[in-house]
Amino acid sequence: MESLLGIDWRWAWIEFNRLRNKPGDTDYWDDRSKDFKEHSGVSDYTDIFIRYLKLTPGQSVLDMGSGPGTIAIPLAKQGHPVIAADFSAGMRQMAQQRAEELGLAGFEVRALDWNEDWVAAGIQPKSVDVAIASRSTMVDDLGDALMKLDKTARHKVALTMVTEYSPRGFKALGSVQGACKSYLPDYIYGINILLQLGIYPQLRYIDTIHGNGGETENKLVRWAFISWTPQAERQGQ
Ligand SMILES: C[S@@+](CC[C@H](N)C(=O)[O-])C[C@H]1O[C@@H](n2cnc3c(N)ncnc32)[C@H](O)[C@@H]1O
Repeated sequence: MESLLGIDWRWAWIEFNRLRNKPGDTDYWDDRSKDFKEHSGVSDYTDIFIRYLKLTPGQSVLDMGSGPGTIAIPLAKQGHPVIAADFSAGMRQMAQQRAEELGLAGFEVRALDWNEDWVAAGIQPKSVDVAIASRSTMVDDLGDALMKLDKTARHKVALTMVTEYSPRGFKALGSVQGACKSYLPDYIYGINILLQLGIYPQLRYIDTIHGNGGETENKLVRWAFISWTPQAERQGQ
């Protein structure tokens, strides 16, 4: 059996992603934002994410890949100053509209891409208490994305990743079955990249049921909720 000890997990993710279909671009997500209208309200997933996050009153949050504000809006309702960041104008518009309808103070919507230089885009190191990314790490370089979150947060980072093979497809492997023989679910890369960065993350799971009980069969979808103390606070300890 091939040794796992010598694996560079950041590189392994980059390689793995080369075999997958490209992640959706802004046009794709602008289009998808229409579907998010229906399921952008309260759900078990949102409630559990927020419970696991355990914010203290008034903590500020950057929500990266916030979509229509699935997590950002409920957090702002609780009185947290929130930056809802996304590269899709359609998603940002939806988040903005919902925040305005609810009259939320302290809710800021920002155009931001995982792949750009965040500092140049105005997101300064240690500028928020907590940085989160819910179901939004469809990136070519996961190591870079995790480091950006780590650098931006003062007290906590949390994100969710799929625990199964993502539905994005594997062009070079032909099928998800083909991928299962050689690759691992996304969150395993996330955990291992963090460990190689010297970060010891906590892992919990969020189970959700997808389907409407009618024509679509109900399916259990399990999300990995990965959280850690960012460098800013680790250094202060
Ligand atoms: C599956 S949705 C998740 C939305 C929301 N966080 C949630 O949990 O419902 C993924 C989000 O990530 C955003 N996204 C994807 N790639 C991105 C990128 N490169 N930079 C910034 N946002 C991105 C999409 O526009 C979309 O809003």
